[in-house]
Amino acid sequence: MFMRKVAIVGVGMSKFGEDWKRGFRDLILEAGRRAIEDAKLSGAEIDGMYCGTMAPGRLIGQEHAGALLADWMGLNPMPSTRVEAACASGGVALRSGFLAVASGHHDCVVVGGVEKMTDVPGADVVSALGGAGDQEWELFPGATFPGIYALMARRHMLEYGTTEEQLAAVAVKNHENGSHNKYAQFQSPITIDTVMKSKVVASPLKVFDCSPVTDGAAALVLMPLDKAKQHSDKPIEIVASAQASDTLALHDRKSLTSVWATEVAAKKAYEMAKVKPKDISVAEVHDCFTIAEILAIEDLGFFKKGEGGKATAEGRTALNADISINTSGGLKACGHPVGATGVKQAVEVTWQLRGEANGRQVKEAEVGLTHNVGGSGATAVVHIMKRAY
Ligand SMILES: CC(C)(COP(=O)(O)OP(=O)(O)OC[C@H]1O[C@@H](n2cnc3c(N)ncnc32)[C@H](O)[C@@H]1OP(=O)(O)O)[C@@H](O)C(=O)NCCC(=O)NCCS
Repeated sequence: MFMRKVAIVGVGMSKFGEDWKRGFRDLILEAGRRAIEDAKLSGAEIDGMYCGTMAPGRLIGQEHAGALLADWMGLNPMPSTRVEAACASGGVALRSGFLAVASGHHDCVVVGGVEKMTDVPGADVVSALGGAGDQEWELFPGATFPGIYALMARRHMLEYGTTEEQLAAVAVKNHENGSHNKYAQFQSPITIDTVMKSKVVASPLKVFDCSPVTDGAAALVLMPLDKAKQHSDKPIEIVASAQASDTLALHDRKSLTSVWATEVAAKKAYEMAKVKPKDISVAEVHDCFTIAEILAIEDLGFFKKGEGGKATAEGRTALNADISINTSGGLKACGHPVGATGVKQAVEVTWQLRGEANGRQVKEAEVGLTHNVGGSGATAVVHIMKRAY
């Protein structure tokens, strides 16, 4: 198989949050323009685009997002493809762009991710997001995502003694990181008390255990590594890309306390990159709920199964601790515009590996990882990146 090395040469994102002034197309245009300028491109060099977006049909009444985005970015007749994998849409778009460049089929690809979530009532957002699970067996009987992750949290608490305060420590750490990120939805630090006293959404998960509903977009420019130096002084090589699938419905899984798709994708990614979990200094993981970050740091091999909550409460995942997890603020504080999240994770890791994460820089960051999940674990995508300068 012919595989070229692939590098990220440009990154950009919009400010995440509740945006009343700009629409879906404005957000992706802003992120895309920033990434293209960052890569010192005119635009004419781009020969392909992949864009992750989960539910624009439900959230803004717009389908055919691939063509819309090429049109709005002035890139016609370039091929432009919408990628959908629920909350992992951005991560799978990145993988699609990676494979397109690695295979030699494309030489310069823009990978985008976007979601405009706040233009419809909350109940409609919940229903659209619920489509990421099993519609017949979960959403129809009433199990929305906070409820599904609450079941996983309860089981983790039962099997490993994880506590609500340990869950809350994830949110406190991510809000602290988000307070140093000008693109984050929430930029105020919080305390354990803030989380514990917030309203219960689905016990044991409270409002501050949940990622918010967010508008936002992120974009990357990918090129073959041998051409990357012409466009960036600090190219970042994607040294692994791996994806795995599992059952949509939680009740069909072999475990409620591990996300098997994450374990499988992570194993493949570590093999492809020839690195071990201990080599990763910075990771953006999928913390759609606080329990999801605990499952992620265990399933990715950073901590033993059952020890993620304790490790977080001890500060071992804070900035510049044993491993820096979710320096952007994660989905919890940076926000979770679902289709954009997987791309934003790669934007953050690129800034970290370039030494450009102002105010939240991980010291001597050499190898970074992104982990993006669709639904409650039916899709997992893992990428590993390294400095190539
Ligand atoms: C947690 C949740 C239910 C709260 O929704 P809500 O009660 O309708 O909240 P509102 O939008 O009315 O906001 C009320 C206030 O809470 C804040 N808020 C909302 N969600 C928040 C969150 N997750 N964390 C912290 N604060 C939050 C808002 O900023 C607002 O603050 P303000 O009054 O100072 O402006 C909602 O954010 C949610 O459904 N999150 C999960 C999203 C999800 O499932 N994503 C996919 C994962 S797989």
